[in-house]
Amino acid sequence: MSAGGEPRSPAPLGLRRLVAANAPLWAGEAAVFRAYWDAPMRTRESDLAWLARQCRKELFDGVLPRMQAFDALARRLGSERDRNELTALADGVQTETAHFQAFANVYDQWRPPADPPLDAVRLAQSEWPENLALAALRARHRAEHGVFGRRAEAFTEGGYCTLYTAGCSLAGRGGIDDAIAAACARVVDDEWEHMIAGVAGFGGEPFSDEDWALLTTLTVEQGRCRIRMRQAQFGGPLGPAELRRAENGGFPPLPFDFERAGFAAP
Ligand SMILES: [Fe+2]
Ligand SMILES: [Fe+2]
Repeated sequence: MSAGGEPRSPAPLGLRRLVAANAPLWAGEAAVFRAYWDAPMRTRESDLAWLARQCRKELFDGVLPRMQAFDALARRLGSERDRNELTALADGVQTETAHFQAFANVYDQWRPPADPPLDAVRLAQSEWPENLALAALRARHRAEHGVFGRRAEAFTEGGYCTLYTAGCSLAGRGGIDDAIAAACARVVDDEWEHMIAGVAGFGGEPFSDEDWALLTTLTVEQGRCRIRMRQAQFGGPLGPAELRRAENGGFPPLPFDFERAGFAAP
């Protein structure tokens, strides 16, 4: 039952197929963090490197595109739907800025005192090729498939919150692990909302089987690209065989919370 007491409908078959195709890739992304947290290669320096990259991502991939979209939409405002979209974009700017702030605070709290704070120079140095490859793939999907490219991007944003969920699991270990856990706890629920925006809203028009199939193809391609992006962000904690297994969807799928997404439990 929903919060209002209405019986919930089951998730559409297309959504269930989309989730089934993506859930092993979320598990592959989660495997990167699981390998990293206790890896011998993990140092204070490697933590600061991934945190700086995450800050770069929150600011340049999360905040700025929403600000640019807000600016563009404000200049061609046409309907009530546009106004609602403006509000959603403004909320998104605020939310992603808070994510940036959460990870930047961990960085600054744990950097060596002689190092400069996380500034524009460090952020500029913290872009990485595999993240640019993901951005290029998403741009191609938007150019070739319009609204479905944008939905695919929203659905794969945050990678089913796997980094944030994995980060939360560090709570209680002390030191920087507790700081990472607190930052991830701050972010995790927001990213669920951003993912769900990929399969909901947008005027509520029903998807055809072809629409769902296209969304599945695009999200799977982006999900594989995300695993390479995370593997590089964290300095390559997965060995070659494990990385191949992750990219090929060889890890047991993560369970998807259909009820939280507004549907009946499967
Ligand atoms: Fe974010
Ligand atoms: Fe987000």
